[in-house]
Amino acid sequence: MNNNDRVIIFDTTLRDGEQSPGASMTREEKLRIAKALERLRVDVIEAGFAIASPGDFEAVKAIADSIKDSTVCSLARAVEADIERAAEALKGANSGRIHTFIATSPIHMQYKLRMQPDQVVEQAVRAVRHARNLCADVEFSCEDAGRSEIDFLCRIIEAAIDAGARTINIPDTVGYAIPHQYAETIRQLLQRVPNADKAVFSVHCHNDLGLAVANSLAAVAVGARQVECTINGLGERAGNAALEEIVMAIKTRADILGVHTRIDTPHILATSRMVSGITGFPVQPNKAIVGANAFAHESGIHQDGVLKHRETYEIMSAQSVGWHTNKLSLGKLSGRNAFRTRLEELGIQLPGEAELNAAFARFKVLADKKHEIFDEDLQAIVSDSLGEEAPEHFRLAHLEVVSRTGEVPHARLVLSIGGVERDASAEGSGPVDATFKAIESLAASAANLQLYSVNAITQGTDSQGEVTVRLEKAGRIVNGNGADTDIVVASAKAYLNALNLMQAGVRKAHPQVADV
Ligand code: KIV
Ligand code: ZN
Repeated sequence: MNNNDRVIIFDTTLRDGEQSPGASMTREEKLRIAKALERLRVDVIEAGFAIASPGDFEAVKAIADSIKDSTVCSLARAVEADIERAAEALKGANSGRIHTFIATSPIHMQYKLRMQPDQVVEQAVRAVRHARNLCADVEFSCEDAGRSEIDFLCRIIEAAIDAGARTINIPDTVGYAIPHQYAETIRQLLQRVPNADKAVFSVHCHNDLGLAVANSLAAVAVGARQVECTINGLGERAGNAALEEIVMAIKTRADILGVHTRIDTPHILATSRMVSGITGFPVQPNKAIVGANAFAHESGIHQDGVLKHRETYEIMSAQSVGWHTNKLSLGKLSGRNAFRTRLEELGIQLPGEAELNAAFARFKVLADKKHEIFDEDLQAIVSDSLGEEAPEHFRLAHLEVVSRTGEVPHARLVLSIGGVERDASAEGSGPVDATFKAIESLAASAANLQLYSVNAITQGTDSQGEVTVRLEKAGRIVNGNGADTDIVVASAKAYLNALNLMQAGVRKAHPQVADV
């Protein structure tokens, strides 16, 4: 395969993914995800929308300063102020890219931009030139290209390439395209734009009709060589094309598509779990590649076939995307060195000895409760240790829950609040509801509970439950996480973690800015 056969993977989990309602992330969380994307060998990481808020600027800057092996990109509307802010945030990058966009569909130009097509072309050219003066790598997107006229697309793309854009993105912004029709648009653009050979053509598909991956692959089949996608398909509304599905389709069907990516696929699952844990968006069990059932065979005929010859029912191996088939990892008697070595084998790097010690202490507590510790348990322990740092203003000192058939569940607990112990009790519709009510009666946060999700980390009834609690107050959103073999305790920990983040003023900026 030559270079023309390589598809550039452009991940926009931290920008378009963050535009999922409720998925906003802190700077530290974004940095952790960016490092995981670098390890996955993503070519381009769209780190955010630098002008959207000071928090977004800081996140793009922190990622640009620390990522070495992937290009770091910031989004910018086709206006000078946005482009300059993006360039400023990307100053420290080894390899930086400015991604500037303007809408090109009749409906967007008339009602949103209130501009004539000629003015849109002029503004696009000015923006690309300005970006090229500040950064060698410039991408131009025709927003709502999926509903734009092909003649106008040809005109604006030719002008953008002449002005210095080296990547041209054709987004299906509203998820309206159908695979063969979208592929035909890309094919015509590659053929009709006179200077098309001077740019890489990119696709960016939304999933409103459930076709984002199919549309992206149809475009790759006719010559698109960059795909914009997100981990777990996170993104605006119904989301974007899922990175894991794009990458594994390209890998598994190289016979049909004839292209490849540089993604290190065994890191896919860990990255998916990290994104799910940080955003609080659970992965559905039947989700392709990363869902809990993606490699589970239920029917006897299938199980028998797989045992005789794996490929009878499996088109790719579970290991190739990071499933270790519940590999027994460590036990109660394992020491610190074995713990560290296993983490290294899982590709997990802890920043220092303090984090290793904290994670090892959690491992010992868990090993006392649970005989078998699996890789998934270790990943949860490490996520907890690297979780958003906030002083433990609220700490669970004691919890008792009574839940009997025919009786109203009841929780009694003791919280340490700023070092002072206080107790409370409450009734609720279930044990978790009673626990949250008891916590609220002491904390009086008046925050709105936006999301409560529980996930079993491994199989079996002794599995740890991983809980995410999303709280909102006056527009500020935080995600708290907690893991424990007792899901009521895990829930209380997650709720308290969210309260501590609120108390510490941890901000999750949401990158919504008005249109040009
Ligand atoms: O969906 C879209 O059009 C976008 C652009 C800003 C690339 O996200
Ligand atoms: Zn988008």
